[in-house]
Amino acid sequence: MDKEIANLRNEYSKAALDIHETTDNPVEQFRNWFDEARKALIPEPSAMTVSTASPEGRPSARVLLLKDITEQGFVFFTNYNSRKGKEIENNPFASLTFFWPELERQVRIEGKLEKVAPEVSDNYFNSRPRGSRIGAWASPQSEEIPDRDTLEIREKELKEKFEGQEIPRPEHWGGYELIPDRLEFWQGRESRLHDRIVYRKTGSGWSRKRIAP
Ligand SMILES: Cc1cc2nc3c(=O)[nH]c(=O)nc-3n(C[C@H](O)[C@H](O)[C@H](O)COP(=O)(O)O)c2cc1C
Repeated sequence: MDKEIANLRNEYSKAALDIHETTDNPVEQFRNWFDEARKALIPEPSAMTVSTASPEGRPSARVLLLKDITEQGFVFFTNYNSRKGKEIENNPFASLTFFWPELERQVRIEGKLEKVAPEVSDNYFNSRPRGSRIGAWASPQSEEIPDRDTLEIREKELKEKFEGQEIPRPEHWGGYELIPDRLEFWQGRESRLHDRIVYRKTGSGWSRKRIAP
């Protein structure tokens, strides 16, 4: 065992999470924590690990940026033909994991993904910098490409093609919304006796309980 790696650890003691201080609605609870993460000036507070799985249950995970919090759930944007897009097509269950080390907090969100309406994808796509919009056309995300030059040549060609024009959203690029049925709020505590509050979807609302660390 590499002792230098094994000895890397922190004690967590910044805060506590009492079930009575959590809100009835977990999306509201997430908003509160997300606002606190922003106020704490955490770099990339919206970066989250999105885990998907093949129909056979083989998981894959990558970091994406959260782009909206709605009444129903959590929105991100990507290439629908990417590896994740193909997995989601065949198995819509997914999870999101946020880690905000400065606040010693983790949030885990599980549920089902749905594509957002095309207008929602259009609105967000049109708000992106021009370079990113070209990039969405230029990159066949997750597919093998011969070399870096291929990508850059494609980018240059597309810049010329769209010169002086609006860049439309490619059909293969858009948003997903994760509609949660389980959320866990984790606050690091001393001696690894962390606080964990879990919400589960019931018929019309949410149940809430504490689970062991
Ligand atoms: C901080 C960070 C933010 C990212 N945000 C996005 C994003 O919002 N959308 C996206 O498609 N990829 C994003 N990526 C790239 C993904 O991690 C990933 O490489 C890409 O989506 C391809 O994943 P896939 O092959 O599993 O489909 C981001 C990567 C990092 C490190």
